[in-house]
Amino acid sequence: MAYFSTLSSLTRRLEGKVALITGGAAGIGESTAKLFSKHGAKVAIVDVHDELGHSVIKQIGPSNSTYIHCDVTNEDDVRNAVDKTVSTYGKLDIMFNNAGIADQPKLRIVDNEKHDFERVLAVNVTGVFLGMKHAARVMIPARGGAIISTASIASGMGGAATHAYTCSKHAVVGLTRNSAIELGQYGIRVNCMSPYALASDLSRKYLGIEDEELERMMNDKANLKGTTLKADDIANAALFLASDDAKYVSGQNLFIDGGFTIFNSAMQVFKNPQDSA
Ligand SMILES: NC(=O)c1ccc[n+]([C@@H]2O[C@H](COP(=O)([O-])OP(=O)(O)OC[C@H]3O[C@@H](n4cnc5c(N)ncnc54)[C@H](O)[C@@H]3O)[C@@H](O)[C@H]2O)c1
Repeated sequence: MAYFSTLSSLTRRLEGKVALITGGAAGIGESTAKLFSKHGAKVAIVDVHDELGHSVIKQIGPSNSTYIHCDVTNEDDVRNAVDKTVSTYGKLDIMFNNAGIADQPKLRIVDNEKHDFERVLAVNVTGVFLGMKHAARVMIPARGGAIISTASIASGMGGAATHAYTCSKHAVVGLTRNSAIELGQYGIRVNCMSPYALASDLSRKYLGIEDEELERMMNDKANLKGTTLKADDIANAALFLASDDAKYVSGQNLFIDGGFTIFNSAMQVFKNPQDSA
C-alpha cells in the first residue's frame, strides 16, 4: 500500500493542488497547463485569446480546468481571475505568471518609441507584478504557495533581445527576488525560469520564420548539442518548481538554456577543432 502511495506521489506530483496559469492558451503556458493537470492539479488558465483558451480546456477536460478571460495588464482582470480560481477550487497553491510579449526584433534604442517600450513592460513586468500581488493576497492567509514567473535568457545577459524585452525580463528577476524575501515568512516560495529560445507563437512572430528554421537556427547557436528545447521542457521545470520536490527552493532564476548564458563564444578553449572541420 505504502509502495503504491509513493508511486502515485511520484507520478502525480501536484495531486490536490490548484494552479492559475497566465498566457495559458498557447506555447509554454498551454504545455504547463496540460502537464500540471496530468499531475493531478486543478488548473485555471487565463489569456486574452479566448478561443484558444477554451480549446485548451476542452483538451484537458472541463472537470479539471477552467478558462477565465484576463488581460494581465488590467488589475481588475487579475483580481477577478484569482478570486474566481479560489471560488471555483477553494484555494490557490500555484501562480504561474507566464504571459509575455516581445516587440519587433533588432529595434535600435534611437528608433524605440516610448509607447512600444511601455507596451512590453506593461505585459511582461506589470502583468507579473499584478499576478504576484493578487496571488500573495490569497496565499498569505493560507500560509503557503508557490509563485513562478517566466523570464528569459534575456534576464541574465545583454544583446539577446530588444531593450524593452531585456529590461522586462531583468525586472522579473528583481520582482522574484524581492517578493521571495517578503513572502518567505508566510511559507510562500517565489522563483522564475529563464528559457533559451524555443518555437512558439511569440518567437515565430519575433523572428518571422517557421518552427523548423527557428529550431535549426537556435540549435546552431546553442551550447548544448544533440537536442532541441521545447515548450514541454519548460513545463517540466515549472512542475519541479511548483511541486514539493522544490520545497526549499525560493528566490531563484532557473536557466533552462543548456549552458548558453554561461558561455562566452570568444573563449574557445574546449572546442575540438576536428568537430568543426
Ligand atoms: N518562446 C521563446 O523562445 C521564449 C523564450 C524565453 C522566454 N519566453 C517567455 O515565455 C513566456 C510564454 O511565451 P511563449 O513562447 O509560450 O509565447 P506564446 O505567444 O505562445 O504564449 C504567450 C501567451 O500569452 C498570452 N498573452 C499575451 N499578452 C497577454 C495579456 N496581456 N494578458 C494575458 N495573456 C496574454 C498570449 O495570448 C499567449 O497565449 C513569455 O513570458 C515569454 O517572454 C519565451
